[in-house]
Amino acid sequence: MTVYAIIGGTGLTELSGFVLHKRSALQTPYGSPSADILQGEYAGRKVLFLARHGHPHRIPPHQINYRANLWALKQAGAQAIVAVNAVGGIHSAMGSGHLCVPHQIIDYTYGREHTFFEGDIEHVTHVDFSYPYDERLRQRLIAGLVAEGYPFSSSGVYGCTQGPRLETVAEIARMERDGCDIVGMTGMPEAVLARELDLPYVCLALVVNPAAGKGAGIITMDEIEAALAEGIVKVRAVLARLLI
Ligand code: HPA
Repeated sequence: MTVYAIIGGTGLTELSGFVLHKRSALQTPYGSPSADILQGEYAGRKVLFLARHGHPHRIPPHQINYRANLWALKQAGAQAIVAVNAVGGIHSAMGSGHLCVPHQIIDYTYGREHTFFEGDIEHVTHVDFSYPYDERLRQRLIAGLVAEGYPFSSSGVYGCTQGPRLETVAEIARMERDGCDIVGMTGMPEAVLARELDLPYVCLALVVNPAAGKGAGIITMDEIEAALAEGIVKVRAVLARLLI
C-alpha cells in the first residue's frame, strides 16, 4: 500500500485523529525540514505528516525549506504527497469555504531554492512538468469530495505568489487574465521538487478569502482564520476518504 505523506499548511499544523507512532527530527543535505516528520496512523492507515510552516506555525512561505521538506519525507519512506493549501479565490466559483483540486500551476515566486538538480551534478536534468499534479491522486481526492458532498471544483489553476504579503487588486486582475483560479504562496516549488524526487503529488486547496479586489473590502486575518477553522473540518474528512 502506498505510503502517503500529508503536508499540512496554515490551519493544519496538527491532524486530529492522527495516532502518533514515531517523531523523527531528520537532517538532509539541504538542511532541516520545517518540523519533525510524524509517522503514525490516520483513518487506520500508515501515514507521514509534516507541518509546512513548522509547529507552532512560524515559518513564512518564502522562508520554508521546501527542499529539506521533500527530501526528508522521501527519506522517511513517503511514496506520494498530499499537500493541503489555504488559498484566496479568484474565479467567481471560488468563494470562502470552497475546495479545489487544482490541475495546473503558474509560478510567480522568485528567489526560492527550487531544484535539486544544481551544484555538483553529473548532467543537466530538465524534468517534465506539463501536468504538475498526479492525475490518479487528483481523481481519488475528487471521489472523496463527491462522497462527502462538499461544494468543490475538480480543476483549477493555482497561481503561486511570493508573499508573505497578499496581492494588490491589479496583481489579482493580471493573474485572472493569466487564467489563475486560486492564489496561494506555498504551491511552488513544493510541487516541482516532488516531481524531481519522483513522488506523485496532489493538492487539496481550501479557499479562505476572496482574493484582493474580489470581496467587499480589504482582506483581514480574522476572516481568513474563521474560514480556516470551518473549512479544515472538511479537509480532514476528505483526507480520511483518500486514505481508506
Ligand atoms: N493570496 C495569497 N495567498 C493566500 C491568500 C491570498 O489571498 N489567501 C490564503 N493564502
